[in-house]
Amino acid sequence: MADIIDGKAFAADLRGKVAEGVAEFSAKAGRKPGLAVVLVGEDPASQVYVRNKHKATVGAGMESFEHRLPADTSQEDLLALVAQLNADPAVDGILVQLPLPEGLDENAVIQAIDPDKDVDGFTTASAGRLMTGLPGFVACTPLGCLMLLKDRLGDLSGKTAVIIGRSNIVGKPMAQLLLRESCTVTIAHSRTKDLPEVVRGADIVVAAVGRPEMVKGDWLKTGATVIDVGINRVPAAEEGKTKLVGDVDFASASETVGAITPVPGGVGPMTIACLLYNTLEAANRREGFA
Ligand code: GUN
Repeated sequence: MADIIDGKAFAADLRGKVAEGVAEFSAKAGRKPGLAVVLVGEDPASQVYVRNKHKATVGAGMESFEHRLPADTSQEDLLALVAQLNADPAVDGILVQLPLPEGLDENAVIQAIDPDKDVDGFTTASAGRLMTGLPGFVACTPLGCLMLLKDRLGDLSGKTAVIIGRSNIVGKPMAQLLLRESCTVTIAHSRTKDLPEVVRGADIVVAAVGRPEMVKGDWLKTGATVIDVGINRVPAAEEGKTKLVGDVDFASASETVGAITPVPGGVGPMTIACLLYNTLEAANRREGFA
C-alpha cells in the first residue's frame, strides 16, 4: 500500500513558515507584505476562490487588497487598475482572478502585470524567466507539486518524470521545474502514443489532464511517486450526490506506487500556500531583503 502524501498538512506547515517570514519582513520594512486580488464579475467559483485567498492572506499577517469590479467593466478600466496596482508601493503581488467575463482580453490583462509582482507566474516574462533560469515567479500549482516531490524524494536528479498534460499553467511550468532539478522529463498529452507504456517508465508522474481517474494502477511503475493535480467532480454512488476525484485511479494506483497525493487533500491545499509564499518572496525582493 502506497504512502499518502498529505498536502493539507504540508500546506499548513508552509503557511506557518510564511507567517513567520511575514512577521520578520514587517519588522524590518515597517509595513506588511501586500497582495492585491482583482475579481471581475460574479462567477460563483471565482468568488469562493477569492474569499479563500483573502482569508489566507490576512491569516498569514499580510495586507489583502480586494478589487471587485462589475462584469461589464471595460478593458481600458481593467488595464488602468492593473497599472495603478503596478505603481502602488504597498502592493507586492497582483492576482487577476481567471476566467474574466466574456469580452475582456485575458491575455492582454495578464501581460500588463509587472513581472516583479506576478505572484501567479502567468506572464510570458515569468514563463521566460523560469525557462532560462532567471529569478522570477513560478505558477502556484506546479510550485506546490515540486515542493511535495522534494519533500518526499529529496534530490530529484536523474529521475525519470512524466507529466501528463501540457497546459501553460501546470504541465509546461512543471516540466521546466523538473528539468531544473535535473530530471529526465517527458510531457505526454492527448496525442501521445501508447500513454500507459510511457507512464510505466516514470519514477515521477504528474497527472494534470482533467480526466477523472484516467491513469490506472497497471500504468504505473512499482514504487513510483504520483502527484495528482486533477480535480474532477463526478456522480457518487449515492443517488443525486457528487464527489471529487483526481486524474489518477487512486484505488488501483495505491496498490502499485510508493507514494501518491489524494484528491482532495493533496495538491489542492498547496496552491494558496504557494501564493502566500510567492507574495512574501515578492515583498522581500522589492525591499532588497532577498
Ligand atoms: N482561477 C482558478 N485558479 C486560478 C489561479 O490560480 N489564478 C488565477 N489568477 N485565476 C485562477
